[in-house]
Amino acid sequence: MSDNASAAEAELGRKGWKMNPRWRPSYHITAPAGWLSDPNGVSWFAGYYHVFYQHYPYSSEWGLMHWGHAMSPDLVHWRHVGIALTPGDPYDKNGCYSGSAVDNDGEFTLVYTGHNFVEPDPLTHDRARFTQNQNIAVSRDGVNFVKYAGNPVIAEPPPDGTHHFRDPKVWRHEGAWYMVLGNAGVDGRARAILYRSADLRNWDYLGPLAESDATTGSMWECPDLFELDGRHVLAISPIGMKAVGDDNLNQHQTGSLVGSFDYSTHRLSHGTFSEMDRGHDFYAIQTTQDPDGRRIGIGWMQMWDSAMPEQVDGWAGALTLPRELHVTEDNHLTMQPVAELEHLRVDLRMSRQVSVGGELDTGLEVGTAEILLDVQFQGAQRVGFRLDIGDQRYVTVCWDEAAGKLELDRGGVDGVRRAPFAPGDALRLRVFVDRSSIEVFTDSGLVTITSRFYPSHPPTLELFSDGGVSQFSVEVFSLQDIWHDAGNGHPDLETG
Ligand code: FRU
Repeated sequence: MSDNASAAEAELGRKGWKMNPRWRPSYHITAPAGWLSDPNGVSWFAGYYHVFYQHYPYSSEWGLMHWGHAMSPDLVHWRHVGIALTPGDPYDKNGCYSGSAVDNDGEFTLVYTGHNFVEPDPLTHDRARFTQNQNIAVSRDGVNFVKYAGNPVIAEPPPDGTHHFRDPKVWRHEGAWYMVLGNAGVDGRARAILYRSADLRNWDYLGPLAESDATTGSMWECPDLFELDGRHVLAISPIGMKAVGDDNLNQHQTGSLVGSFDYSTHRLSHGTFSEMDRGHDFYAIQTTQDPDGRRIGIGWMQMWDSAMPEQVDGWAGALTLPRELHVTEDNHLTMQPVAELEHLRVDLRMSRQVSVGGELDTGLEVGTAEILLDVQFQGAQRVGFRLDIGDQRYVTVCWDEAAGKLELDRGGVDGVRRAPFAPGDALRLRVFVDRSSIEVFTDSGLVTITSRFYPSHPPTLELFSDGGVSQFSVEVFSLQDIWHDAGNGHPDLETG
């Protein structure tokens, strides 16, 4: 381990003891302490799932980016395995920014962006003035990584691109390595640009595979191109999209362009941009194909420029649950929690069939839980559930018949998110509640809503059906605390 990595590890150990556990996730990935943002290097290598992430171990604010690292045999039980990348080399002196990981025939290779401010002093830097390049680091054991002596492997943006040149996602196709990068073109348009390599070290520029139109922003962060169910999907996280009605309400968006990629012309023909998750906190999804052939995606469960109340507790940021992606016949992306998440279930705390007209307080303290809801709602106007999170605050999830929308309201300023949805004959939701997050999945997976919330006591569950009587069937499972129950070896010590 480098000196920088040891210093960061020691800092994490110290911080871990001090952290307030009240909002720490019990089954989502978060950093042992300090800042976490984008998922990086979501992959499978040597018998384990690996997830890296943008990480600043020294404070709960964004800082010089490191790569944190967690691994799991089953996508459910994660273990921290230390810091994989620390910045400070001449080509990544101000950060190891986002990127991906591939298994190069037994050599586990991280591909990442080196960030370098032009100002001599990173503390007084003008954040607009920087250079970005692409680098690799390799490992045989999947845990200890050595940066390649020949870094950077791509030293500068192509002539038609600006210095916004980051977030390499690499995959193999017919014996060649391909890399998609986010880039702002010199013409002011966001683009996903493509490179090809035989050895991950020497790369040829192939041009933009897709670019923004007037509506899809000025920079695409964290692009990911993959084949799924006979289509190609480009996932992008655009900066600079305008809010329209209930759409694009977050600071930045994450969405997909579904279509067909041609490996001979290097172009993606695609339909319109569609947000992948409709909550407040979903960004920078990265996917991988696992040995079962599933396309699995994980996002950052927070948003740039949002309030992050957990920062006073010594940490910030979590990743979403792993989701299995699919594309429907009519080119819509769906996301469902991976099947393995059922292993988190500890007890069936509630199993209830009940008619509700108006409100019903179940009295159940939900804690960290999975809620399965099936509501036959003929005639009702608004049906759903509410979590009482203390101090007269609520997180409400409901189907609004008149609007034709699924709605989440977490209260406070800008608390509402709504998504067009057609529930058919019943509202069927699968909901994951952790100590400061909620992820709502519709049964079709066509709508997901992911938001953070900050309870002042463990949430309790209320059901409601306004404007008519509805038949509720509700199951609530308590879920395992993977960081404490699984005997993880790392000092993620939220002993309060
Ligand atoms: C996305 C992003 C990436 C960048 C990283 C820096 O959230 O801005 O484009 O690589 O975060 O932390």
